[in-house]
Amino acid sequence: MHTRVAIIGAGAVGASCAYALALNGSCSEIILYDIVPDIAIGKAIDIAQSTHYSQRGTRIRAVSKPSDIEGCDIVVITAGVPRKKDMTRADLLKINAGIVKEIALNVKRYSPDAMIISVSNPLDVMNYVVHRVTGWDRSRVIGMSGALDGARMAYEIYKKAGFGATQISTMVIGEHGENMIPYPKMSHIDGININSLLTPEEIREVVENTKNGGANIVKHLKTSAYYAPGRAIAIMVEAILNDENRVVASSVVLEGEYGYSGVSIGVPIMLGYNGVKTIFEMPLEEDIAEQFDSAVKSIKANIAILERENFFD
Ligand code: NAI
Ligand code: 2OP
Repeated sequence: MHTRVAIIGAGAVGASCAYALALNGSCSEIILYDIVPDIAIGKAIDIAQSTHYSQRGTRIRAVSKPSDIEGCDIVVITAGVPRKKDMTRADLLKINAGIVKEIALNVKRYSPDAMIISVSNPLDVMNYVVHRVTGWDRSRVIGMSGALDGARMAYEIYKKAGFGATQISTMVIGEHGENMIPYPKMSHIDGININSLLTPEEIREVVENTKNGGANIVKHLKTSAYYAPGRAIAIMVEAILNDENRVVASSVVLEGEYGYSGVSIGVPIMLGYNGVKTIFEMPLEEDIAEQFDSAVKSIKANIAILERENFFD
């Protein structure tokens, strides 16, 4: 079966995602589009040449017009401005919301049957923007958050425990931002809860370091992360194309789940061929429920900024 994935924004994250997909031969074809055509053209050539050593062939081509983004199974939106040092994700809100709105409307027009994976920040608000402006069912509009934040939490757990690499499962819900919720009770090494393996102080550090995972990379690189984000997007693309029914925390629009509506936020979902197949409602401990409420309020405050500016009209 021929599968086509478009990546809008061929910057660091978009290109890393394309590279991860091409190495794995995850789809038949990757389309790269960037507002700066030479970025898409140069990266497409470079990644296409890397596939000479891949197990399976993947065609990669750059396109120069939004109308070329047609017939896609999945469109990944990574276009926008990356977070710089001293800049919060909320600072990016207005610039990226305008960019994402325009792209989402073009996807709706030229790839009306696609699924969209949002990546641009502030992630939860951007995914909500995509849902609102396309009017698509929420099962087709998914924000990449927990796939990355969960990988970061696993990295932090491994650093403390020193064993169990590849056997660590984690759960990070809430906002992809200051109100992120790494959830120790839902995190295990081969089934053993980390509460029995690490001290309370070590767990506190795992939680804090996970929440600061993105900012820590910005501190060193002066720009935000891209390898782990690219790989995290790729596993979501693969889950959809291969109908894996993969459980992965992602930002989705709630319609009453956890007691909230009108917000996109990270929760565990089942991801497969039709996009979001199930939203899992876990019982939340009291302190986690409070943190979740703060995360909802934070995301809704940003949505309200856009509403006040008649962004959705
Ligand atoms: P980047 O600056 O390397 O790439 C962004 C690309 O978007 C640039 O090549 C730019 O020319 C392009 N672009 C801008 N406006 C466009 C438009 N209207 N149409 C098409 N392309 C356009 O940035 P990077 O590092 O790739 O990050 C991309 C976004 O992803 C940022 O918003 C960043 O904060 C976010 N991000 C989100 C993560 C998550 O977990 N959800 C993880 C990492 C980054
Ligand atoms: C990250 O978490 C900036 O959202 C991006 O690395």
